[in-house]
Amino acid sequence: MRKFEARNRYFDQLVNTPGLKWMGQNTNHFTPHPAVVDAMLASIKAEEFHAYAPPAGLEELRTLILDDLGLHPDKASVLVTDGAVEALYIVCRDLCAPGVNFVTTDPGWKWPMSFAKASGATTVEIPIYKPENGYKLTIAQLEAAVNDQTRIIYLVDPNNPLGTCHTAEEIAAFAEIARRHKAFFVHDCTYRHFADKHFLAAHVYPEGAITIYSFSKWLGLAGLRIGAVVAHPDLIERFSGAPPNNLGSSIVAQRAAVAGLKIKDQWFPDINRRQRRNQAEILKATQRVPGLSIVNYPSQANLLVLECIDAGITPEALCHVYREQGIMIRQGLYHTPTFGHRFVKVSTTVPEAWADAFCELLPAMVEKARSVEQELSLF
Ligand SMILES: Cc1ncc(COP(=O)(O)O)c(C=O)c1O
Repeated sequence: MRKFEARNRYFDQLVNTPGLKWMGQNTNHFTPHPAVVDAMLASIKAEEFHAYAPPAGLEELRTLILDDLGLHPDKASVLVTDGAVEALYIVCRDLCAPGVNFVTTDPGWKWPMSFAKASGATTVEIPIYKPENGYKLTIAQLEAAVNDQTRIIYLVDPNNPLGTCHTAEEIAAFAEIARRHKAFFVHDCTYRHFADKHFLAAHVYPEGAITIYSFSKWLGLAGLRIGAVVAHPDLIERFSGAPPNNLGSSIVAQRAAVAGLKIKDQWFPDINRRQRRNQAEILKATQRVPGLSIVNYPSQANLLVLECIDAGITPEALCHVYREQGIMIRQGLYHTPTFGHRFVKVSTTVPEAWADAFCELLPAMVEKARSVEQELSLF
């Protein structure tokens, strides 16, 4: 079977498993605010879906996204996309070309690297799975990796999967390196809302920072496909020239996103408190099993990296035995061929009962994983 068929069947099986506990993709499974559901229902009942939405997104949504980021319309404009992934596709395909290079971290999110390569760019991955650097990119590392051929520096901040977040000083230094080399700084802020403090590169590098925005994680709209790219108006003008979807993102999703941004201040703090509570429980459960450890706590994203290498089991075996119990977690290899054999990733924006079930099973799952012998192909 071809690989894409196998991968599709794997995910098809997951979405068709009733009651599956999704703890592997950092999606948000808390009950949404009623205003968000009502906005979708109202849109469907009014049959808004017959028409195309505006190509760059509903004006109300574009304004609310800028407000949420604290950016001024003179310096930044918004193109609403089918998820952050489409935003990344547009940026990477447009700005990359043969002869340029694309610099990112390892681990990080792999898809933008594929987009850059598809446009002919070469890619450089800077290893950041280093306790001595606090599992973060350092200014010296970035300085050494960037040259005048660098067109894009792509930083996931907070990082997926490590959950580390950069300070304002670090971001300002990274942006300065980008500016000096005339490179764009693509700041993937998909997990921004979960951080205690987050600083946007767009504040210090408005002409060359490109902010990637998602509604999948903080608001829980992953299946609706809605996000945005936010950048200097000249850049958005350029990206709007030939995007893969110039007929507007889902109107139902946009109505949900508008409603979500309006109730964010009253709804989201408790969501973040609850996912931090899940992090704390998972940390405690991990400390009770010899050989397991959490790499970065508290994580500044809705996820934890759980190292299992010292317990003498493979991440794939642990994912497999949890899957048999109806819990999906992610093997490290999804993020990084270099460090992926060390860990699994566990997502925490889930009902407390899911996190507790994960914790309760942990000792038994580690024991069971020792006896898994078959080759496992996970995605
Ligand atoms: C770093 C990062 N960027 C982008 C995305 C994609 O987000 P969206 O669902 O908005 O397309 C993900 C999804 O996991 C991610 O981890």
